[in-house]
Amino acid sequence: MSDWIIRGGAVLSGTVPVQGSKNAALPILAATLLVEEPVTLTNCPALRDVENMLRILEALGVTVVRGANALIVDSRTAENWVLPTALSGELRSSIFLLGSVLSRFGAADAPYPGGCEIGNRPIDLHLKGLRRLNAQIREQGGRIVCRGKLTGAVVDLEYPSVGATENVMLAACRAKGRTTIRNAACEPEIADLGAFLNACGFRVDGAGTPTVVIDGVETGHGTAFRIMPDRIVTGTYLLAAAITGGDVTVTDTRPETVEPLLSKLTESGCAVTRGRGSVRVRAPERIRSVGFTETRPYPGFPTDLQPLLFAVLSRANGTSVIVENVFENRFRHAQELNKMGAKNRILDRTAILTGAERLHGASVTAHDLRGGAALVLAGLFAEGETVIGHAERIERGYERMDEVIGSLGGSIARKEENLDDEEKTRQTGAGELPV
Ligand code: UD1
Repeated sequence: MSDWIIRGGAVLSGTVPVQGSKNAALPILAATLLVEEPVTLTNCPALRDVENMLRILEALGVTVVRGANALIVDSRTAENWVLPTALSGELRSSIFLLGSVLSRFGAADAPYPGGCEIGNRPIDLHLKGLRRLNAQIREQGGRIVCRGKLTGAVVDLEYPSVGATENVMLAACRAKGRTTIRNAACEPEIADLGAFLNACGFRVDGAGTPTVVIDGVETGHGTAFRIMPDRIVTGTYLLAAAITGGDVTVTDTRPETVEPLLSKLTESGCAVTRGRGSVRVRAPERIRSVGFTETRPYPGFPTDLQPLLFAVLSRANGTSVIVENVFENRFRHAQELNKMGAKNRILDRTAILTGAERLHGASVTAHDLRGGAALVLAGLFAEGETVIGHAERIERGYERMDEVIGSLGGSIARKEENLDDEEKTRQTGAGELPV
């Protein structure tokens, strides 16, 4: 585990290329099990969550070659349908493997993702969807045991869950007949998964829209595929410009995937320039407040950018309101920001942010990935030094964030600590969100 020490006060400026998308890479890695030939993936981010997914695949017998610029994943050698407990418990996205393992072997055995925190992390929509495809599922001793030969069906999702949409897509690719997913999530990462599956010879239509139709085929073939750019990381560095009054250009990205954020940045007084594969944000010295923002499934404002926008609006001129509709309990960064001089009030799922003219450095805790990144943004603006505990949680989603911020003129130093994770978690009472 590590602490990060942020020295505030720099105005961030410069150009940074963005990493590949974590949330696209994880289901695509799960999908490699459906393809009994080698798959070459480029732009796959080097992150702990991705490495955990690779290790789980290796435990199933998949051969993984980690090259400097590409990953080669060959599932011809896969032979095991029992997911390892410790690794899967750490990675909520291991749930995607249920659909692809079951499809490949006719059986899957997985621990509940996130272990005892299941109360806050339902997977009912995943299981309902798989059951519709004829999976027999028993929940037994903290594990999910699935059997069955999958057949196509109409799956009506009660809520457009990203993970459940992806899981059902994966299960349906080799199922017998046609599967139609209605009320599917429309996130760009789902469109990317669909593009990958089609590149492998599967027949997926409408991924990224509310209706996805999959015609089952026997198996897929190998391919080379470039994972889409990370829209949440793109948004993070643009927001770093907004909070520090800076001028940042993010390249190798897709501006259209961050449109909901760009409209907020414009409203706050930033000049936004969209290029081909790049976005530039030039911020005034102090941004204006943004009246009302609520998180919604895509194309609404993404919940993953909520903590980051929250940090930035904490120093805006005026009062802003944020409503979190997607996840419960996703305002834990608020109390940490208040330690830095922010004036935020939380009423259930609504946050009222009275922009503070100044923030000051403090000792704070990253309770989860994006909440931690929000503290980095606040620390960059704050006077003095901010020490972020449990900063390793931030590294679940950001590749070399300290170097990227350094290249823009900010400063993040690392301090490794000896306390093990469990001990530190007990001390801080921190628990991670499933994202
Ligand atoms: C994915 C993203 C995460 C993002 C989220 C919403 C990945 C690896 N993670 O998470 O970064 O914040 O989408 O954009 O892609 N729900 C249920 N039952 C279910 C499944 C979900 O009630 O079976 C609820 C969740 O508790 C949550 C909401 O639906 O309140 C959204 O969850 P979902 O869209 O499934 O998010 P994830 O796929 O977990």
